[in-house]
Amino acid sequence: MKEKTKVLFICLGNICRSPAAEGALKNLVHQKKLTHSFEIDSCGTSGYHDGDLPDPRTRKAAEKRGIHLTHKSRKLTTNDLNYFDYLLVMDENNFKDVMSLTRDTKIQEKIFLFGQFRSDKGEPIVPDPYYKTEPAFDKVQDLVEDCSRGFLNFLGV
Ligand code: 4NP
Repeated sequence: MKEKTKVLFICLGNICRSPAAEGALKNLVHQKKLTHSFEIDSCGTSGYHDGDLPDPRTRKAAEKRGIHLTHKSRKLTTNDLNYFDYLLVMDENNFKDVMSLTRDTKIQEKIFLFGQFRSDKGEPIVPDPYYKTEPAFDKVQDLVEDCSRGFLNFLGV
């Protein structure tokens, strides 16, 4: 039997962008009846919000799209770098931070800017909404859903 594709979303706090992306991809994979083929998780490069649920604004934006987020924030570990097949980061700071944790090119090749999978070929960044207001959280939710579609396309599913 084919192994699961293991996907880890990474942002700074793991309470806004990466749990939103985790929810969006899980939702799409569920719709495609492919849940059994994937393991999908998220984490942060910081442990600032360890154990916290996603930000209430993130949860609200997801709920509007029928997605219920229950993930608890956790910090990225070195084990994650080995375990997951795809390390999908939200911005260049995340990219640099994760890259700096390893010199192993096999691991570095697993790190992608998630925004590179967006359909409009805009900036390959999912911007941090934390210091912004609700519309920014809706935009993040739309963007991570679009990028999730692009990522599944990239995987050929
Ligand atoms: P995230 O957003 O990286 O998308 O989860 C942030 C959450 C918290 C903080 C910064 C960004 N913070 O500074 O606490």
